[in-house]
Amino acid sequence: MSRPRVTVTYAQSLDGCLAAAVGAPLALSGPESLRFTHQLRAQHAAILVGIGTVLVDDPQLTVRLVDGPHPQPIVLDTQLRFPLKARLLRHPIHKPIILTGPQASEPRRRALEEAGARVVRAPVDAQGRLQLKTALGLLRSFGLESLMVEGGARVITAFLAEKLVDRVAITIAPRFVGGLRAYDAPVLLALQDVRYQVLGSDVVVEGKLA
Ligand SMILES: NC(=O)c1ccc[n+]([C@@H]2O[C@H](COP(=O)([O-])OP(=O)(O)OC[C@H]3O[C@@H](n4cnc5c(N)ncnc54)[C@H](OP(=O)(O)O)[C@@H]3O)[C@@H](O)[C@H]2O)c1
Repeated sequence: MSRPRVTVTYAQSLDGCLAAAVGAPLALSGPESLRFTHQLRAQHAAILVGIGTVLVDDPQLTVRLVDGPHPQPIVLDTQLRFPLKARLLRHPIHKPIILTGPQASEPRRRALEEAGARVVRAPVDAQGRLQLKTALGLLRSFGLESLMVEGGARVITAFLAEKLVDRVAITIAPRFVGGLRAYDAPVLLALQDVRYQVLGSDVVVEGKLA
């Protein structure tokens, strides 16, 4: 395969929301499903989020709730908006890989590399977004065979719309939010080999995509 195996995973409300609004993060997973997410992290070579998630959540993307290796963090960030104070720059093992566009500022690239990131330029599409297929090919060429995509909404939508997903694991928390929906485009896909687990008060739905 010319790209890593891709698992999309996130937590949503009953009405399909990831957060109350962009910029208003919401802890949706209970402790049991959060532990499941950390198990999944430990089973993947790399973990990817969009810059929107870094700016709002400042995630660590490490494995803390179970024993296991930390995946390599990857961020999609066309303009290098990645903050120099982001917690990902203090990762215990890996330099975060920031995939950026051809036009991103060279001084900013140097500043981020001095702060501990590895910045890799990749081509963009007609909308100015990173070309996911090429980006995934690059990650595979770095030896990364599996990738967990953890959000946010735009990144999840892009991976599903471009059919670059092999498997999903979605935590559904028993609440309504009426906020930022996981998909902002029509996505007509059905899961195969579906498995349901009740973890605390959440349900985790897992399945493969053809
Ligand atoms: N509940 C959960 O499990 C969960 C998980 C993660 C995040 N979240 C929430 O999701 C929200 C953030 O979502 P978001 O949609 O604003 O941001 P996002 O999906 O994290 O990041 C989107 C950004 O990534 C960059 N990007 C570059 N290439 C892309 C491509 N090919 N496709 C898509 N994006 C690309 C774009 O910014 P540039 O143009 O600047 O490159 C784009 O605006 C936050 O509120 C966070 O709390 C929830």
